[in-house]
Amino acid sequence: MVAPSLLSANFGNLEHDIDLINRSSADWLHIDVMDGVFVPNISFGFPVLEYVNRLSDKPLDVHLMIVDPTKFIAECKKIGAMMMNVHYEACTHLNRAVNAIREAGMQAGVTLNPHTPVELLEDIVQNVDLVLLMSVNPGFGGQKFIENTYSKIARLRSMIERKNARTLIEVDGGVTLQNAPKLYAAGADVLVSGNAIFKSENMIETISLMKQ
Ligand code: DX5
Ligand code: ZN
Repeated sequence: MVAPSLLSANFGNLEHDIDLINRSSADWLHIDVMDGVFVPNISFGFPVLEYVNRLSDKPLDVHLMIVDPTKFIAECKKIGAMMMNVHYEACTHLNRAVNAIREAGMQAGVTLNPHTPVELLEDIVQNVDLVLLMSVNPGFGGQKFIENTYSKIARLRSMIERKNARTLIEVDGGVTLQNAPKLYAAGADVLVSGNAIFKSENMIETISLMKQ
């Protein structure tokens, strides 16, 4: 699957860019929420996302780069999030967080920063719907892909298989048409892509090439 990241869209005309995504073969719309504390940047918040939800035909894949993300479970539900991704590094009680997200009626994703080993998910991976592997340090679009991600995908894939789980693997940061085939071969199910899609000449075509 392919999930274009709204962070790279033209914020001056979100309606135009979301309309293009609606008409494309993209599977989800990836939404990066930042608080300036967990990451050194601020993006957009829930009042904006209420409108994004109204405009988007694609399911919303919300990636919270914020401290204490469980405070915002109700807000995420309200803006129509299909998937709520919280960072492993931001949750002291991850099991409780995942249960609360699911009880609210959303799918639960756990996100790992580039330095966080996938082995730390040994006791929770079977209870989450998705693991989001950061392939750049979170906070900004347009950064260079970290090569160690391939090994993380492969190790996570074998952990999921060993447990007979159905957890999806999503990769976020520096994904391009060039590295997409290798990420898929390593075991990724969902590719998030910002700059490679929104800065391309024909977004709809780029998305369809990435899916192929
Ligand atoms: C980074 C965000 C990403 C970002 C990806 O903090 O989580 O979703 O938008 O953008 P590209 O594909 O440009 O690296
Ligand atoms: Zn993201």
